[in-house]
Amino acid sequence: MCPPEHFRVTYSINPWMDPGKPVDLPLAVTQWEHLRDRYRVLGHTVEELEPQPGLPDMVYAANGALVVDGRVLGARFAYPERTAEAAAHLAWYRGHGYEDVREPEHINEGEGDFAVTPSWLLAGRGFRSSPLSHGEVQEFFGRPVIGLDLIDPRYYHLDTALCVLDDTVDGEVMYYPEAFSPGSRAVLARLFPDALIATEADARAFGMNAVSDGHHVLLPQTAQGLFEPLRERGYEPVGIDLGELLKGGGSVKCVTAELRG
Ligand code: ARG
Repeated sequence: MCPPEHFRVTYSINPWMDPGKPVDLPLAVTQWEHLRDRYRVLGHTVEELEPQPGLPDMVYAANGALVVDGRVLGARFAYPERTAEAAAHLAWYRGHGYEDVREPEHINEGEGDFAVTPSWLLAGRGFRSSPLSHGEVQEFFGRPVIGLDLIDPRYYHLDTALCVLDDTVDGEVMYYPEAFSPGSRAVLARLFPDALIATEADARAFGMNAVSDGHHVLLPQTAQGLFEPLRERGYEPVGIDLGELLKGGGSVKCVTAELRG
């Protein structure tokens, strides 16, 4: 996670960002610290990436790389405003014992557009990550990549439209179908017939932008409609308020890069 010390909304690269709307920075910091501390209370280790002035979106750490089995594919950002973040992530991994760290050729925004299931890597395209990155990711990780077309600019990253609830069991996902093209919806229905299907209200509350450890699901507390369905499936929903960071178009998942191995 990267502290939101330099978080601002000074430009707009997704429909949630309005540079005219003030951000309460101390509140953003408090909300972010609350999430970080919650992870720790739940027994997880949280590493912190040093934030850099002039990179207001760096708080969305999930976009900086994709890590699977301890191998790291760095990001290449779609917008120039975020380009410089990629090097900071690569340097962090190289300085923390990761040996297989690759700089990518094609545009990909890390975990923003890639989700890990036991059998596949699910990959978003349409707004940020290039379709060419899907082949690059498949080649690097040696896992089958399933390309999914995002069609609604409000759900510009895969992690705003889909969440893997348990990465040890195939099929444990939740998603918002309307964010995907008809063909991609059919692919999702075929792969995940028992998925938890989100309503528009929960998707709009950024409910898909959640982090699950296989038992606890940390998600925006306003995504109320998901709490009961998650409980019915045996998960424990943990409501989080990241209202200030939502002004940049991100929530729980966006600010959390998962170190898999
Ligand atoms: N303002 C950032 C952007 O538009 C938000 C990134 C959100 N991150 C995510 N994983 N969806 O790039």
